[in-house]
Formats: sequence, C-alpha cells, structure tokens
Amino acid sequence: MDIMQAIKTRRSVRTFDSMTLAADDAKQIIECAKSAKNPYGMDVEFRLLDAKKDGLSSVVINGTDSFIAGKMTRAAHAEEAFGYTFEQVVLFAQTLGVGTTWIAGTMDRAAFERAMDLREGEVMPCVSPLGYPAKKMSVRETMMRKGIKADTRFAFEEVFFDETFNQPLAKEKAGRLEDALEAVRLAPSAVNKQPWRVVVCGNKVHFFEKKNVGFDDNKWDIQKVDMGIALCHFEMGAKQSGLNPVFEIQDPGLSLPENTRYIASFVL
Ligand SMILES: Cc1cc2nc3c(=O)[nH]c(=O)nc-3n(C[C@H](O)[C@H](O)[C@H](O)COP(=O)(O)O)c2cc1C
Repeated sequence: MDIMQAIKTRRSVRTFDSMTLAADDAKQIIECAKSAKNPYGMDVEFRLLDAKKDGLSSVVINGTDSFIAGKMTRAAHAEEAFGYTFEQVVLFAQTLGVGTTWIAGTMDRAAFERAMDLREGEVMPCVSPLGYPAKKMSVRETMMRKGIKADTRFAFEEVFFDETFNQPLAKEKAGRLEDALEAVRLAPSAVNKQPWRVVVCGNKVHFFEKKNVGFDDNKWDIQKVDMGIALCHFEMGAKQSGLNPVFEIQDPGLSLPENTRYIASFVL
C-alpha cells in the first residue's frame, strides 16, 4: 500500500452514496483489523456492525449502515494503542476506496457498546462508518467541516522542533524525516486539535501531547488517541522513506511548554 498516498487523500467521510459495502471490501477490512498491531502490544477486538440489525445511529453519518468498532481492556496507554491500531484500518480502507470517519462522540454510544458486548473493565473508544463516499457532501457535513476547520493543519514549524522546543523545525531542514513528519502533520484528530508536538534530537524523535482543556477527564484522554494516530503515521511514513524506526518510551527530560507531556519516541 502506498501509505503516503492514503494519508494525503484520506478525509473524514460523513456522507455516503447508500451503496452496500461490498462483501470483499468488508472481508479485507476485518482481516486487516484483526492482524493490526501496536507498539504497546495491546489487543484491540474489532467487529463489523450493521446499523439496522444492531440498532445503531450517528447523527453525523448519512448513506451507510456499515460500521466498524473496536474495544479493548482499559489500561495505561490504551488510548495511544487504540489510536495506533484503528488508524491502520482507516488507512487500509482508504486504499480500497472505502470512506471512514473516526467517531468518539457523535453517535448513540450505548447502542454501539451493546453491539460490542462491552464488559466491565473494557472501553470502546471510537467507531467508524464504512462505505463509499457520495459525490456531494451533505450541507451538515460541509458546515461541520467549516466549523472545525477540518481542511487546515498547523504549519510544520508550529508542531515540529529541532533539539528543543525553542527551535522550530522547517520542512526544508527535516531531511530524511520530511515525509514521516508530513504524515504526522496531516493526521486526523478529535475536533482537529492536532495535539502532537515532535522534537527531533539527533537520531531520536520524541512525541509530546499538547493538551487542550476539556479532552481529559483523568480516566480517559481522547487526545492520547490522536497521539497514537500520530505515532502510526510517523512509523508508516518513516518506513516508506526507507527508515527503520524503533519504538521506545524513555522521557528525554526536555524543558516543556505549558500543558505538554511526553508520550513516546522513535529511535532511527
Ligand atoms: C479520536 C477522534 C475522535 C473523533 N470524533 C469525532 C466525532 O465524534 N464526530 C465526528 O463527526 N468526527 C470526529 N472525528 C473526526 C475529526 O473531526 C476529523 O478527523 C478532523 O476534523 C480532521 O478532518 P479530516 O479527518 O477530514 O482530515 C474524530 C477524530 C478523531 C481522531
């Protein structure tokens, strides 16, 4: 799969063309989901769901009954692990021409959790519709995208840094990391807040979360799911650039801006 192509062309799809998801696409997507791994070594259980059969709904989604959802045991790093794993499925679907939208909030959560047989100690962070994008977005989708500025991203220099948080990293100076960092920059995130900040220190690439108010209730931090997505994009982008990134969690002890915390690193 040309991962950079999938990353550059993906967008959240909320208006579908009402065609049923092809059995072969469904089969390939669930196979991809079942084999998807994350660097935290945590298991995520995926299921394909049917809105009509399972009584599901999402106010933002039109034109498809197919959904995919994932659940896992609640534990430290579950958020990042989930983000990393689910995004592989999202990008794979993109290569098949199947549209997706990460959904954490705008759905009948209780119905989805019932359909997933969610048990004590488990969490179902997000779901996604699966289907074929309609030619034209609904008015609601267009307005929603405008409202959250879904088509924009922070500039390279605003989120990537060279050795310290005081020194922005220009795209032209990113060298062999240019594609991998661009892949991070383009990633989807809750309310498009793009909480990832990255500091490149020699052969190490450190990931930090710049927290926004209201996303973390001390039990669950949805922006850490975004961080998992960013880690996934970086690793896939780096591999496509011929690099061999090795995951580690070792806080480099840098001086941090406000509301910023260390998440994980890659060693090149
Ligand atoms: C963890 C996460 C949760 C999200 N939750 C929702 C949601 O509940 N409803 C929704 O319509 N979009 C949701 N989104 C989609 C984002 O709004 C979208 O990714 C962002 O605005 C960027 O737009 P794009 O995906 O089209 O590039 C979520 C995205 C992520 C990564």
